Amino acid sequence: MSDHGFSQVSGVDLSPALIARGRRSQPDLRFEVLESPPALPCPSASFDVVLLFAVLTCIPDDEAQRELVAELNRVLAPGGLLYVSDLILQDDERNRSRYTAYAERFSAPYGVFATEDGAVCRHHDIADLRALLSEFDLVDEHRLDVATMNGHRSRGVQLLARKR
Ligand SMILES: C[S@@+](CC[C@H](N)C(=O)[O-])C[C@H]1O[C@@H](n2cnc3c(N)ncnc32)[C@H](O)[C@@H]1O
Repeated sequence: MSDHGFSQVSGVDLSPALIARGRRSQPDLRFEVLESPPALPCPSASFDVVLLFAVLTCIPDDEAQRELVAELNRVLAPGGLLYVSDLILQDDERNRSRYTAYAERFSAPYGVFATEDGAVCRHHDIADLRALLSEFDLVDEHRLDVATMNGHRSRGVQLLARKR
């Protein structure tokens, strides 16, 4: 964002290590570790745009996702944009079997799965993502192929939503 001329850019994460990496790579930007997520240390209506890139995949629970989006709605100014980029349900056998295995053991939406190293992640039904953003006006939606952190190709979606 700053490379494209935006002068007031800040980033937050739960992870102190990632915030430290952000500060090292972009010393002029503001980065903060969230002390009590999803609460953001910012006044209401103080941002024009919020980018949520591959964050929902790390928040498998419906209610926790709704709380996060409500907090983003609070900090966005009227007419502000929320840009969500995330992974959707995959139809290959490896993913379908891990969705099924997780859903059979735990009460979780289809698409939640555990990685081999123990992280619990979620791939989304696009209809669920649209429903999550139902308080916003959906401006644009498109599908794309992305590389995951462990090198697999995955299907993703990007949704652009405007605060009413
Ligand atoms: C897959 S990583 C994506 C990181 C970065 N957005 C990117 O695109 O490279 C997901 C990140 O979401 C963070 N995260 C998970 N829950 C969060 C929450 N409630 N608020 C803020 N960040 C969260 C995790 O700590 C992790 O760094």
